[in-house]
Amino acid sequence: MIKVGIIGCGTIGRELAKACQRKFSDEVTLEAISDAEPSHARKLQKELKKPKPKVYSYEELIKRCDLVIEAASKEAVYEVTKKALSAGKDVMVMSVGGILGREKEIFELARTHRCCLYLPSGGVVGIDGLKAANVGKIHRVLLTTRKPPQGFEDAPYVIKHGIKLKGLKQEKVLFEGNAAEACKGFPKNINVSATLSLAAIGAKKTKVRIIASPHMLVNVHEVYVQGDFGSFYTRTENFPSEQNPKTSRLAILSAEATLERILRNVKIGT
Ligand SMILES: NC(=O)c1ccc[n+]([C@@H]2O[C@H](COP(=O)([O-])OP(=O)(O)OC[C@H]3O[C@@H](n4cnc5c(N)ncnc54)[C@H](O)[C@@H]3O)[C@@H](O)[C@H]2O)c1
Repeated sequence: MIKVGIIGCGTIGRELAKACQRKFSDEVTLEAISDAEPSHARKLQKELKKPKPKVYSYEELIKRCDLVIEAASKEAVYEVTKKALSAGKDVMVMSVGGILGREKEIFELARTHRCCLYLPSGGVVGIDGLKAANVGKIHRVLLTTRKPPQGFEDAPYVIKHGIKLKGLKQEKVLFEGNAAEACKGFPKNINVSATLSLAAIGAKKTKVRIIASPHMLVNVHEVYVQGDFGSFYTRTENFPSEQNPKTSRLAILSAEATLERILRNVKIGT
């Protein structure tokens, strides 16, 4: 049995904890959970079935588990991942944006300690094709993200450039640049563009366009990839999760599907 520990007992952490007990109980034991807000961990512990996971500090959780799942925050992810990989533990990371720029060190730790680092596709589609295309030569990766204007109100880029979002009648392109700049200016878009960047040609070459769309009720991510293989285009219309409107339903499902991929013997898709 693989001992699983979950750091971050919010929207994604809760669903994964329940999936460990419901769907994967033949393969894993949910050994421990951890949260910067102890009340969040206690609340989740109460909701779960027996045998209940223990509530530990993240350091103690890492010591006691084989697979560490980070579903906390971009502030937590770097330290957690570094410590867990250094201790020879496998890690699944949700706050992918928090390791962007430090991926060389993190990937090297996984290699030297012979453990696995899993980055689920999250709220974007096309990572499978992108990985395959990257075995050959890729000429262009473009992510276009459309959200309702209020989704961008507190973005540092919008504040810095004094962009007016209120009363917008038509779509407005807020940003065009690379993923590294997009992640700084729009940290809430960080996970999707970070995962796309890390899967293929990196944050400097991956292009991002961010559009405020007053008619949009969902968050839409379009990915266009062109390379020696030809080209592909994907479009995802994401419903927000009920618990956390910033997290899409698909990101939670993607985390669960990654756990399934780790545990099952048949692995379909690239
Ligand atoms: N990869 C993707 O596509 C994708 C998609 C959605 C969300 N995410 C990321 O996954 C993470 C979790 O998302 P969520 O919707 O479950 O968030 P959430 O806010 O519902 O829950 C996060 C939980 O982590 C806890 N937490 C915050 N900082 C912590 C720290 N330093 N140490 C321990 N616990 C901490 C919070 O108290 C909270 O209970 C976020 O960073 C989010 O940006 C990634």
